[in-house]
Amino acid sequence: MIQPHGSSELAPRFVADSAQRDSLITEADTLPGLTVSSAAAANAVMLGAGYFNPLTGFMNKDDALSVGATLRTTAGLFWPVPVLNLVEDPAALAGANRIALRDPNVPGEPVLAIQDVEGIDEISADELEALAEQVFGTTDRNHPGVGTFLSQGRFAVHGPIQVLNFSYFETDFPDTFRTAGQIREEFARRGWERVVAFQTRNPMHRAHEELCKMALADTGADGVLVHMLLGKLKPGDIPADVRDAAIRKMVEHYFPENTVMIAGYGFDMLYAGPREAVLHALFRQNAGCSYLIVGRDHAGVGDYYGPFDAQTIFDEQVPEDALAIDIYRADHTAFSRKLGKVVMMRDVPDHTKDDFVLLSGTAVRDMLGRGEAPPEEFSRPEVAEILMAHYQQQDG
Ligand code: ADX
Repeated sequence: MIQPHGSSELAPRFVADSAQRDSLITEADTLPGLTVSSAAAANAVMLGAGYFNPLTGFMNKDDALSVGATLRTTAGLFWPVPVLNLVEDPAALAGANRIALRDPNVPGEPVLAIQDVEGIDEISADELEALAEQVFGTTDRNHPGVGTFLSQGRFAVHGPIQVLNFSYFETDFPDTFRTAGQIREEFARRGWERVVAFQTRNPMHRAHEELCKMALADTGADGVLVHMLLGKLKPGDIPADVRDAAIRKMVEHYFPENTVMIAGYGFDMLYAGPREAVLHALFRQNAGCSYLIVGRDHAGVGDYYGPFDAQTIFDEQVPEDALAIDIYRADHTAFSRKLGKVVMMRDVPDHTKDDFVLLSGTAVRDMLGRGEAPPEEFSRPEVAEILMAHYQQQDG
């Protein structure tokens, strides 16, 4: 199986030993507490789950700026997106060298992790804007990721963490949330050496189903990991539990047995397009995958990125030896009336737009909201049924 990023073994920051964990939980009560942002909590969960291997904690300002400008930490580790614990006012942490990070996403704000505070760096407003421009390609606060990033504060509390639980992800999604190590173990149990990862934050329609099948056939991999984001989304995106149910139905009905593993990871969507695609590749490598599917407008939002920017970044900004995982590049995929099946558009010679069953996200949402299933060339009926129920309940 493929090696993790930056080390030969995964070194997750979750404290696996329960006695040690209990004593840290007791210690946490004596430490200054900090309720972190949802983004920082998600970073802690990813660090705990081994996905952010080999990082040990939150970056300092120099590393964050270096990652923004060069996709490398100051020590030279390849990394595409800063991993920060930003706060607005560090006054309450003055002098503390160990703090309890409290979880903003769980009632009662229980302790999520303990952080050794190596220091607290002020990042100027200009530096933070420049970082947003590098990571998101824009400083427009209407971009959902930028809006979140620029509203967390300008003080980076940096240093290693010990993670004590996996927030709401393990309680709300017990059948789906998995750590990178658990995914590797499951691959080994199945005898899967090479696996294709499919990143998703949406329910899967025919185009996505076929994309996975094409990637499996073209790479000759042993299986597909359908790996869904379980964290925060922008308003209007389908909630994780509905998407999870729709994906499970689709896999059950339309994939040969034992070709797909479904799992989820606890991270908030950044909508950072190309940079997020690189992060996606990196953490799938940590989860034991040899390929990541990157299709059209991967991790994009609105018109902020070109449809294939998330592929070209791998040519332009990811040196050959930076990651071991490979990218499976997909063209726009849709049902071709001419060929009578879902294909990549580049594979249909001399096509016109009318050759394809193409529906905008808005058109599909409107149809589902009216209780109308999209055409079978677009959505499997079992998937449409779950989504219709969701939209109708929402409207009602
Ligand atoms: S993402 O934000 O998680 O990337 P989404 O769940 O919509 O969004 O997409 C999952 C993956 O499928 C991404 O790699 C995306 O590029 C790809 N994808 C989605 N729809 C298409 C399509 N019609 N053609 C080609 N690739 C697609």
